[in-house]
Amino acid sequence: MQPWRKYGAVVTEAAHFLPERIVTNADVSQLVDTTDEWILERTGIKERRFLDEDKPTSYMAIHAARSLLDKSGIDPLTIDLVIVATVTPDMVFPATACIVQAAIGAENAWAFDLSAACSGFVYSLVTASQFIHSGAHRRVMVIGADKMSSILDMTDRNTCVLFGDGAGGVILDRCENSSIGLVDFLHRADGSDKSSLNVLGGGSLNPASHESVDQGLHFVRQDGRSVFKFAVSKMAEVSVELLDRNGLTGRDLKLFIPHQANLRIIDAAAERMKLPQEKVLVNIDRFANTTAATIPIALSQAFDEKRFQHEDLLLMTGVGAGLTWGSALFRWGENCG
Ligand code: UT7
Repeated sequence: MQPWRKYGAVVTEAAHFLPERIVTNADVSQLVDTTDEWILERTGIKERRFLDEDKPTSYMAIHAARSLLDKSGIDPLTIDLVIVATVTPDMVFPATACIVQAAIGAENAWAFDLSAACSGFVYSLVTASQFIHSGAHRRVMVIGADKMSSILDMTDRNTCVLFGDGAGGVILDRCENSSIGLVDFLHRADGSDKSSLNVLGGGSLNPASHESVDQGLHFVRQDGRSVFKFAVSKMAEVSVELLDRNGLTGRDLKLFIPHQANLRIIDAAAERMKLPQEKVLVNIDRFANTTAATIPIALSQAFDEKRFQHEDLLLMTGVGAGLTWGSALFRWGENCG
């Protein structure tokens, strides 16, 4: 047992929100030179959801947050902290987490955004857990939300076919039993590669200007091949290392909840852990890559389907821009909070 853990940090509720508008591969192939076959074969994606153009990321995050409150019946005044993982905040500042905090009436909570792209949710979940482990907080809301359609160049087939919009989140509660909840985590970053996946414009390096917009610097750009190689090796490596150091193997897991960027990346990680298909959550076919939202959406779906029980082990692993990657091992707990 790690000395930093006084209390258990337990997920007691999960919820998600997906926009209604379905954009199929056939729809995308009207815009760029691609086909349903290419997208499905190379990525596993069949369709994605796009939010209405006039609605921001907070719209989805607030829906997910309200759903968390409705499902759990908790009083928003009992929330101590709201974290929103996103790379598509409503604006540079204030933080989207503050917008969510106000919308749900979490008046006793402080709030901040966490930027770690596709690793944003696992980074946030582990960050939130520390406040609970230490005894500083009793209850934290963690949301992953991204409106990727707001930063997609719909003329660039290398990126526009890959992403979608969505939000998901959890309530993390203190548990007197410190062996329940977050068991261990392994997070990494390599900031030396800023070029393979980024949005270069709109920050202090390239403030928005006519030129920056003309050059399309406000769009996501990706060197797919190099990110693919990186993700295939790191998703498996960090997952196996975390299991190893806890004396576990894939056999001990109830579910593996990986970031949904490419089915081939997920399959490679599952193979390294010798996981059968039924232990691996996959929804990339319907929602594509929603960046910080993929893991909480999948977790919420599994939660609703009651796919795990008290003391089951869950592994969540993200890989994304930064470059960032990380894995969090949870022992599912009930009767806490
Ligand atoms: O979530 C953050 C982390 N992101 C990821 O993990 C994404 C990682 N990368 C990937 O998932 C894959 O690299 C992609 C799906 C983006 C691309 O798949 P790939 O098998 O690596 O394809 P590729 O980039 O090697 O391109 C193969 C061919 C190229 O044509 P040539 O050069 O062989 O003639 C591309 O121009 O496919 C072409 N291509 C397309 N063709 C049809 C690229 N995009 C498309 C497209 N439709 N949308």
